[in-house]
Amino acid sequence: MKDFASLAITRRSIRKFADQDIPLSEIEQFIRVATSAPSGCNSQCWKFIVLKDKGIIKRIEEAVISKSEELLGNKKHELSQDYLNARRKAVSFFSKAPVVVAVFMTKLDYYDPTFVSALKEQGYDHQGIMSLTAHPDLLSIGAAVQNLLLAVHEKGYGACWMNEPAIAAGEIGKILGLPEDNRLISLIPIGVPAYTPREKKMKDFDEVFFVV
Ligand SMILES: Cc1cc2nc3c(=O)[nH]c(=O)nc-3n(C[C@H](O)[C@H](O)[C@H](O)COP(=O)(O)O)c2cc1C
Repeated sequence: MKDFASLAITRRSIRKFADQDIPLSEIEQFIRVATSAPSGCNSQCWKFIVLKDKGIIKRIEEAVISKSEELLGNKKHELSQDYLNARRKAVSFFSKAPVVVAVFMTKLDYYDPTFVSALKEQGYDHQGIMSLTAHPDLLSIGAAVQNLLLAVHEKGYGACWMNEPAIAAGEIGKILGLPEDNRLISLIPIGVPAYTPREKKMKDFDEVFFVV
């Protein structure tokens, strides 16, 4: 087993998978690791839905492609077929993985109701409070997803954290029958890597590390 630093440093996004399944028990374990992440106000404001049904994955793929093209608006008619094909692939490659995990964000209840009521009296709504406190709900999802990615990598599988499909969050929530206040944040295809990724270009450490 790799030590933690090597595990974190060697994790890479994987976007192409071998035609090989992953036992559900292993996926369940990945999600247990994900749900042990820290969360704002210990809200555990997440839901993980494991998609194995090819029919459902296909419907989600279609919803994402269609939303992506809708969002291109009038520009779509000026773009080359090569660009459109590449964009379709970039937003929908999750559908080729043996398993896709859909990560939904649920409502974070801020731990101090007195502070919340003071803010509400001044006109802050839930989104305003989340923004004021630097989005603890979204950050919690990020912590859980990173845990998930590392757990997947530790077992020799690959995954890609995909936010692009969130453009079709409403449609995907409906396909999966989730309440409207559960928002899709990410889709994470998981499988056996079908390739070795190219080396990643890193910023110089002194661009991102400071001591004052
Ligand atoms: C919040 C977030 C959203 C991402 N969304 C996508 C995505 O929609 N599609 C994709 O191909 N990669 C996505 N990625 C993966 C990044 O492109 C990738 O992490 C980055 O290029 C660094 O490569 P590495 O993961 O191999 O280290 C996302 C990563 C993060 C952290």
